[in-house]
Amino acid sequence: TERSLGLRLVHTPSSTRIPNFAFAFDIDGVLLRASKPIPGAAESLSLLKEQGIPFILLTNGGGKHETERVAEISEKLNVTLDPTHIVQSHSPFAELVKGVDETSALEHKRILVAGGDGDSCRLVAERYGFKNVVTPGDIFMANPSIWPFSKNYSDYYKSFARPLPPVSGSQDPTMGLKIDAIFVFNDPRDWALDTQVIMDLLLSSNGVMGTLSEKNGRPDLPNHGYQQDGQPPLYFSNPDLWWAAAYHLPRLGQGGFREALEGVWAATTGGPGKGIGLKKTVIGKPYQPTYEFAERQLLRNRARTFMHATDLPPLQRVYMVGDNPESDIRGANSYRSEVGSSWQSILVRTGVYNGGEPVWTPRTIADDVQRAVEWALKSSK
Ligand code: G3P
Ligand code: MG
Repeated sequence: TERSLGLRLVHTPSSTRIPNFAFAFDIDGVLLRASKPIPGAAESLSLLKEQGIPFILLTNGGGKHETERVAEISEKLNVTLDPTHIVQSHSPFAELVKGVDETSALEHKRILVAGGDGDSCRLVAERYGFKNVVTPGDIFMANPSIWPFSKNYSDYYKSFARPLPPVSGSQDPTMGLKIDAIFVFNDPRDWALDTQVIMDLLLSSNGVMGTLSEKNGRPDLPNHGYQQDGQPPLYFSNPDLWWAAAYHLPRLGQGGFREALEGVWAATTGGPGKGIGLKKTVIGKPYQPTYEFAERQLLRNRARTFMHATDLPPLQRVYMVGDNPESDIRGANSYRSEVGSSWQSILVRTGVYNGGEPVWTPRTIADDVQRAVEWALKSSK
């Protein structure tokens, strides 16, 4: 049967024909803008739900647990979603709790988690299973002289900071605090304090606050003597230099913070071009691991939705609808699927992209998510 759903005529798959395609929707600039629904977004998702066409929300955003974020979106877009319908920038970090083996597991290691409002990201990390989470705010409140200029925000930090685990024989609770891994879960709110604390750890001996790597500063060693000897690994969840927020022009994202930190690192370790590149892991769109994580989630959802089907066809196409050529379009275009699905990128005009030749070429450009879905449904007939 064919029904007019306000999205123009759409062919409703017969009950036995399971769609061999699915959708991945970016959030900011596609479904929501400054947390407000973009026209047509609610209708599009409810149409796909009604037609049993699987989709996943794939965002470089975060700062809240998937349960909380998806509940907010369900309410805003009037569509019933559960946490398996969303992949946020930091969702893949949950896999590091257990790691691939005993030695790589971070569950009981002490990690620094930066970013987000208050200690919202600490709470996310703890819900993932990390048992020993410290924030830059905890460190600042334990010794405000760590960064002399955040004292104006003491009330803010006091509202969520936790006392640091006691370190023997030191007046300064930060002295001797060992951090085993550094995570930036979401956009830091205090770039200055977070930059200072992360630099302290990167320049330390084995991640111990208040120390300097003994390899530092020895003229006989290359690059001003700085070598990374056992510094804690550094993880970023989102590479976005810019993103679509309430302001009419894009705003600096977590990638902006990382670039600022890399500038301080380069200047500290030998100057631009001479310094040692900062060793780090950056996940999020457009990178392969995040798309793999999202596709695996999409496949699990699809198998669950059609669990009684005897003839579940392979997933052949995924339409990625995004507003940022650098993360959404580039990521979908370059993603090599583990199951051979073809990811086709659709760029919309309701976010970062504002016309002209996009730096990464999408399969098609649509005015908004509703037109994007319409185009995809027509193409998948
Ligand atoms: O911090 C969110 C921003 O980086 C972009 O989010 O949903 O457009 O991937 P999204
Ligand atoms: Mg976006």
